[in-house]
Amino acid sequence: MSAPDPITVDLSTVWFAAGYALRAHNTFGFDVRARLACRIDSEADLIEAVRDPRAAGLPMLVLGGGSNVVLTRDYDGLVLLMALHGRRVVREDADAWYVEAAAGESWHEFVSWTLEAGMPGLENLALIPGTVGAAPIQNIGAYGLEIADRCASVRAIETATGAVTEFDAEDCAFGYRDSFFKREGRNRYVITSVTFRLPKAWQPNAGYADLSRALAERGADGAPDARAIYDAVVAVRRAKLPDPLLIGNAGSFFKNPVIDAPQFDALFAREPQIVSYRQADGRVKLAAGWLIDQCGWKGRALRAAAVHDRQALVLVNRGGATGADILELAQAIQRDVAARFGVALEQEPVSL
Ligand code: EPU
Repeated sequence: MSAPDPITVDLSTVWFAAGYALRAHNTFGFDVRARLACRIDSEADLIEAVRDPRAAGLPMLVLGGGSNVVLTRDYDGLVLLMALHGRRVVREDADAWYVEAAAGESWHEFVSWTLEAGMPGLENLALIPGTVGAAPIQNIGAYGLEIADRCASVRAIETATGAVTEFDAEDCAFGYRDSFFKREGRNRYVITSVTFRLPKAWQPNAGYADLSRALAERGADGAPDARAIYDAVVAVRRAKLPDPLLIGNAGSFFKNPVIDAPQFDALFAREPQIVSYRQADGRVKLAAGWLIDQCGWKGRALRAAAVHDRQALVLVNRGGATGADILELAQAIQRDVAARFGVALEQEPVSL
């Protein structure tokens, strides 16, 4: 972590001066600053930081990898830089391993570690940017798997009281790119660790079109093991999704919209090529990337804010874009998609 200007080193917490640069702490690479920042290495640090007089009355922003946020301006509050580390098998029974990882662990490194330790089950989620602590908030998912499928519990601290709270998977109220922490729990809890249940009766989850194609290309489509799936997921993501270290982005910028069956039937009559997935409740999920692509936005730019040229659902910072540029581009896309398809696209990352 780049750590200029520590202003004090207390018993344990490290505070950074006003004007702390957030560029390295958000995957869009926006060049904004925080009024105050504090590095959080432990739960004790977190409790100390939120009770510190310097934090009194200030809004707080928790940043893990900063992979799901659009920072449109300097942050006039306290940024908590989550640096809690550690991962361990907490218990094992006949059916599963229970593995806990601290909030500040890199998600992808954690996935790789579980596989190397012989505990498969997260391989479909390889290479997702961000940290373990951020993963449950938006219920990260890819290639037919979501955190919801593997999360046993989430440990968090309530900032108002400093109380440690354990949420089981049901309490987390996971939905598509959604959870309790994104709604009622927003700004109330800071996640400090997540425990995963990795079933020993492992089954490949290789049905997703891009993934099965990549497995076939590698001759691993018969009975792929977890490593083959991991390798194929990494290959697909590298081919389609921009690496935030090379080009700023926050993954999918919009959710795939879900519409009612009658609206879908009317749309399908006009647009028979539309990419759609029927849901268990009869509603229909549409591929937002396809809608945006059809509107001609793929690869187009508005100043330095652009639509990725290999996945239209991803907006990128070609260098020097601001959060406002990205939001202006997003609004232009939303207008075009609404005008042509009558469908509203909901933004996925949080803007501040
Ligand atoms: N498509 C196009 N043009 C595009 C992009 C997509 O025609 O420019 C079509 C594809 O051909 C495909 C369909 O749209 O038929 C879906 O595309 P893709 O398989 O790439 O997945 P997605 O629905 O666009 C979702 C997730 C991704 C996740 C992939 C794979 C959301 C918002 N996004 O994208 O998650 O990696 O599925 O499971 O649900 C993320 O959340 O940041 C993210 C990257």
